[in-house]
Amino acid sequence: MEDREPLAWKAEYALGVPEVDRQHQELFRIINRLRQTPAGAPAEHAAKRAIEGLVHYARYHFSTEEAFMLDIGYPDADLQAHNGQHQEFVRKVEDLGRIEHEGRPVAEAVAEFVYQWFTQHIPVFDRGYVEAYRRRKDA
Ligand SMILES: [Fe+2]
Repeated sequence: MEDREPLAWKAEYALGVPEVDRQHQELFRIINRLRQTPAGAPAEHAAKRAIEGLVHYARYHFSTEEAFMLDIGYPDADLQAHNGQHQEFVRKVEDLGRIEHEGRPVAEAVAEFVYQWFTQHIPVFDRGYVEAYRRRKDA
């Protein structure tokens, strides 16, 4: 696969929680590395390893967010809904890593999904707990 423009982190993704922002940026770096994984038979193995690495880091990141939500007393129903999103993400990435993609490199398919997922999840779900945190701090 030829070199591609990296997917850019945008200021609008920043939530103002330094550790979470740092981890989200690392996830972007992982997505970009995944997009550079070459296609073809021997590379499929490298792609699987890269996807495992992504899942490992995503689990670590989700546990940081979940600890944060518990810490700020985020309402249980919201926390459960958010955790459900995280679990679904891991399930989906693991499934995508296993199936064939009609000749499309698996790394590319996973990177595309992960990018779409995070750019939709951050402004809605992550922004939600950050706003609850700010309200609590200002109260
Ligand atoms: Fe999240």
